[in-house]
Amino acid sequence: MILIIIVTFIVIIALSRLITKPLIKMKEETEKLSRGDTKVELNEHYNDELGVLAHSINRLAEDLERVKQERNDFLSSIAHELRTPLTYLKGYADIAAREQTDKKERIKYLKIIKEEANNLSSMIQHLFQLAKMDENTFKIEPEKCEVKPLILQAKEKVYPLISAYGADVQVECPDNIFVYADPVRFTQVMVNLLDNAIQYSGESPSVSLHVKPQRDKVTITVQDEGPGVPEESLPYLFNRLYRTDKSRSRNSGGSGLGLAIVKEIVEMHGGRIGVSNQGGLRVEMLWPKEGNV
Ligand SMILES: Nc1ncnc2c1ncn2[C@@H]1O[C@H](COP(=O)(O)OP(=O)(O)O)[C@@H](O)[C@H]1O
Ligand SMILES: [Mg+2]
Repeated sequence: MILIIIVTFIVIIALSRLITKPLIKMKEETEKLSRGDTKVELNEHYNDELGVLAHSINRLAEDLERVKQERNDFLSSIAHELRTPLTYLKGYADIAAREQTDKKERIKYLKIIKEEANNLSSMIQHLFQLAKMDENTFKIEPEKCEVKPLILQAKEKVYPLISAYGADVQVECPDNIFVYADPVRFTQVMVNLLDNAIQYSGESPSVSLHVKPQRDKVTITVQDEGPGVPEESLPYLFNRLYRTDKSRSRNSGGSGLGLAIVKEIVEMHGGRIGVSNQGGLRVEMLWPKEGNV
């Protein structure tokens, strides 16, 4: 009897240690995680739920580490993007403030300062939009809207650019094609794509915009005849702050946020977007006809 009691006791202690020890370790490690320390390494070699749990916690730690890294990279890119134009601004302001600078020169520098300030404020506005998208507070108000008038409206908006570059923009869109989209955001997407196609496709750019209805989607393609982008850049084009040619894009006031916002907007509507080089850059989108967003 005594022997049985002792053996049972030992078995119970052993079993509970076997189960509670890894659980206590997991508790400690998750507490570390919540303090922001992502150096977590749990033993995953249990053939039961404990192993699965340990595996999930390890993955969580890795994901957190990645997010932390991405956030730091993003912040340092932003700091860099803001610092560069601010340095220019300071330099130009210094020159404009000098007494020996004549009136003509001063006006020229003040104009540059104004342009740079405009670029900065639009970049900050874009960052703000992306931040809202990340916290899901960016609201879209989709409705059934006709594509053609919105596209013509977008073309109208980029008219200053069309005339500055002597661009030729051809729109091919049947009447009575409808998408389920927020008209303001839809136009914003089209303006961004036309803007890129005109700015990055060389002299006297030629841009075509095609709209083709499918069964439950509408395909919209924006195609230019410029040099396109290097093949290895294609996967990164929608990344925030990504630009293939930093200096040229800077001259045009680009910050590499346009396509990131475009992608977010299209996906928010349940659509899809992709890019390819087809004798120039081709951006192809699928927009839903009916609403389920
Ligand atoms: N039609 C195009 N042809 C060639 N390169 C393009 C085109 N559209 C976009 N790009 C490249 O992709 C980068 C990202 O575009 P975008 O996100 O709109 O940022 P940006 O503010 O620089 O215009 C641009 O800087 C440019 O290098
Ligand atoms: Mg752009």
